[in-house]
Amino acid sequence: MNNFEFYNPVRILFGKGQIASIPAHLPDGCKVLWLYGSGSIKKNGVYEQVKEILEGFDWIEFSGVRPNPMYEDLMPAVKLAREKCIDFILATGGGSVIDAAKFIAAAAPYTGEDPWELLSDQVEVKQAIPIGTVLTLPATGSEMNWNSVISRESTGQKLPFRSHLIMPRFSVLDPEVTFSLPKHQLANGVIDTYVHVMEQYLTYPVHAWVQDRFAESLLQLLKEIGPKIVHAEEPDYDRRANLMWAATQALNSNLSMGVVTDWATHWIGHELTILYGLDHAVTLAIVLPGLMRYVREMRQERMLQYAENILGIHTLDTQTSIEEAIWQTEQFFQSLDVPTKLSDYGIGREAIEKIEDNMRRRGLEYISQAKDLTVNDINAILQPQL
Ligand code: NZQ
Ligand code: ZN
Repeated sequence: MNNFEFYNPVRILFGKGQIASIPAHLPDGCKVLWLYGSGSIKKNGVYEQVKEILEGFDWIEFSGVRPNPMYEDLMPAVKLAREKCIDFILATGGGSVIDAAKFIAAAAPYTGEDPWELLSDQVEVKQAIPIGTVLTLPATGSEMNWNSVISRESTGQKLPFRSHLIMPRFSVLDPEVTFSLPKHQLANGVIDTYVHVMEQYLTYPVHAWVQDRFAESLLQLLKEIGPKIVHAEEPDYDRRANLMWAATQALNSNLSMGVVTDWATHWIGHELTILYGLDHAVTLAIVLPGLMRYVREMRQERMLQYAENILGIHTLDTQTSIEEAIWQTEQFFQSLDVPTKLSDYGIGREAIEKIEDNMRRRGLEYISQAKDLTVNDINAILQPQL
């Protein structure tokens, strides 16, 4: 196992009715900016619950955060936070609203010229307004991690930044608030979680057996409950609760400690989203099978471990096992009604060049933390997915 430093101070308030316990975790006398998206919280009771617990606090709201949040949309909220001397941000929504809160939290006290530098130049966050979250879409893990991904319409970029200072002080995970999710967002949640685990598992073994077994248990669980959740007529509390906790665990640093990670699927996926507006998880369902095909030789040991331990493939021939594992992974995404080819979305081979150009602009030596993939490999990764 490689050396690591683990730090995760996020308080999780898990279960039915936990929104009610938020006031105990808000600083006394704080001025709250309440952030949300396009209004789903007004249809599922979250808005009323949060409004009730904010009674007695000084608060203002900022709504309309779009999926894949845009810098241009968020700068008015940064201005508002500065003008009103906001000292706490409460985000109620999915990864987009939470990532937006993280950006506003770091951007408002930023003393440089333009807060976009936090992403474009990876300027270190020196100060941030504390945030808390009410998660409504289990998928990204943003509720318990130090990442935020923001897009900029004018430059066609979708970039991440990270800091311990933007980790939420608390996150409410009430599975009941996920009951209003449409089927395709549930599928997105299952796939995003699955791919997060894969990108921390399907690389190179380093004798990190705790992380390996933990990753495998999450993958097995997602295969088991994912289709049931997506295709169920009625929501089942326990399945939703387990998906919610699995999604959080998949990207809260537990799995990445001491192992070799990848993230190329995510980085290529982010480019597909900014270019074509595809949902985040949809891009992952397209890219991962192509990436698996491309790394099948260099990551053979892990491929076989995945085939055996997750998919129960025990054939004698290595190549047949790996081919079957890739096929079954792609089938799994399709079984959630998420097509996995670019052509399914009307996207052709011109996408590959655009993605390569965007990635080159970032000046990255490698597109994988495992240092086994560069921009020159994107074409071969995406070819099978055309
Ligand atoms: O706009 P609202 O009203 O919130 O509606 C949202 C949105 O339309 C809706 N929704 C959320 N909860 C709902 C609901 N509808 C009904 N009932 C509910 N309970 O779902 C739609 C999608 O929401 P969004 O927040 O965009 O989805 P998701 O959670 O998948 O977040 C995606 C964003 O997170 C980033 C992605 O790149 C993307 O920008 N990621 C963030 C990461 C992180 N911070 O660690 C890691 C991820 O890999 C990912 O990159
Ligand atoms: Zn993701």
